[in-house]
Amino acid sequence: MPAVVVIGAQWGDEGKGKIIDVLTPQVDVVVRFQGGANAGHTVIIGEDKTVLHLIPSGILHERCQCIIGNGVVIDPQVLIDEIEGLVDRGFLRHHHQLAVSHHAHVVFSYHRLLDQLREEKRGSASIGTTGRGIGPAYEDKASRLGIRLCDMMNPESFQKALDLVLPEKNRQIEAMGGNPIVRDDLIHQAREWSKHLTPYVCDTVTLLHDSFRQHKRILLEGAQGTALDIDHGTYPFVTSSNTIAGAACAGSGIGPTMIDSVLGVAKAYTTRVGKGAFPTELHEDVGNHLQEKGNEFGATTGRRRRCGWLDMVALRYAAQVNGLTHLALTKLDILTGLDTLKICTAYRIHGKEVSHFAEAEGQFEKLEPCYEAFPGWKEDIASIQSLNDLPQNARRYIDRIQELLGVPIQMLSVGPDRKHGILLQKLF
Ligand code: GDP
Ligand code: IMO
Ligand code: MG
Repeated sequence: MPAVVVIGAQWGDEGKGKIIDVLTPQVDVVVRFQGGANAGHTVIIGEDKTVLHLIPSGILHERCQCIIGNGVVIDPQVLIDEIEGLVDRGFLRHHHQLAVSHHAHVVFSYHRLLDQLREEKRGSASIGTTGRGIGPAYEDKASRLGIRLCDMMNPESFQKALDLVLPEKNRQIEAMGGNPIVRDDLIHQAREWSKHLTPYVCDTVTLLHDSFRQHKRILLEGAQGTALDIDHGTYPFVTSSNTIAGAACAGSGIGPTMIDSVLGVAKAYTTRVGKGAFPTELHEDVGNHLQEKGNEFGATTGRRRRCGWLDMVALRYAAQVNGLTHLALTKLDILTGLDTLKICTAYRIHGKEVSHFAEAEGQFEKLEPCYEAFPGWKEDIASIQSLNDLPQNARRYIDRIQELLGVPIQMLSVGPDRKHGILLQKLF
């Protein structure tokens, strides 16, 4: 049965939440497979705005089952707040709409504190993390010191695991000038969290395979973006998980043969939050236009997003490492009103043109982007529903993106609301 992976093809915040919400009526199950509460996925329905950090963006559709897979690291308090927030607003009316993997690792207060203290200690060399404890939690998972939800929910195994890990964490915290975490506070919190989360926590791998057997349609929702992938991104300015489509299998418990297509989500320009390479970054007028008109503030931390032209070198690399079969291009409306638009087609490094992202490794500071320029458009495009009604210059811009990428555009998003979009190809 069709399983489609949806991933961010840039530096995160491409509009994955909106695209997942738009696709959800066509599917039965949506699974988040990596990352944690560093993510902020926005869904807008009329005046109503929902920002999801852990729960899949299909949750606003009652008949869809949402799964938080084993690859996600879960801050239980954030998850409980998110559940309660949705319930208060009339969503998530039945427990069975949400299932959380018992194998997902837990983000505790010591992970968050270590993340923040390390960032402070690094000073000007900081990564610009979200401070949500993501790096330290994945480190513990890899070093086999992590505590999974199933461990946390069993008081005996939790205390045993905590006694193994907490003294060392507190030594690190105190060495950096922080206040140690009190063991009994964690035990008390874990007891409360377990009570709240028990109805949702289960073996999601079996659940997912049951769905496959019942011929259900499945979306796998990525967080962050390709250039933040720990292997393929702009290391070390990356997140601590694999964000590419390949991670959907490990993070949910399905095999690669079960995936039919991979939809990359990209903005019609580029943004990045936090530090690290950004070849097409703009600081003056156009950068301000994108930042202000695009309302480019982080959905999780509220930080200003850095903005720049569309970078086809990075996007082509994303098409390769994710095996993209389709592209959803978002925020086209934000380009309205600019006289000239530019697309970066290659980088110039020491006078030599380079068109592959990997060749820029270690030289991002020195490179100069090579641009193709296009005339802009002035017409409001937010209510347009058909490709033929788009201004000629908008057509030219997106045709060129498709041509340079070699991947068909499946959907254009022309406004923040669920209803703002142009469907070009069926996914199912
Ligand atoms: P995600 O992390 O990939 O889900 O993206 P975010 O939610 O962090 O950031 C995307 C922002 O752009 C959100 O505020 C969305 O509401 C908004 N958005 C998504 N698509 C469009 C679009 O086509 N046009 C406009 N104007 N806003 C959009
Ligand atoms: P969504 O899913 C954009 C960035 C942080 C920082 C780096 C490492 O909403 O697209 P971390 O806290 O993960 O250790 O921070 O990664 N980052 C994101 N940027 N969107 C996200 O998620 C991000 N999640 C992490 O800003 O640069
Ligand atoms: Mg986001």
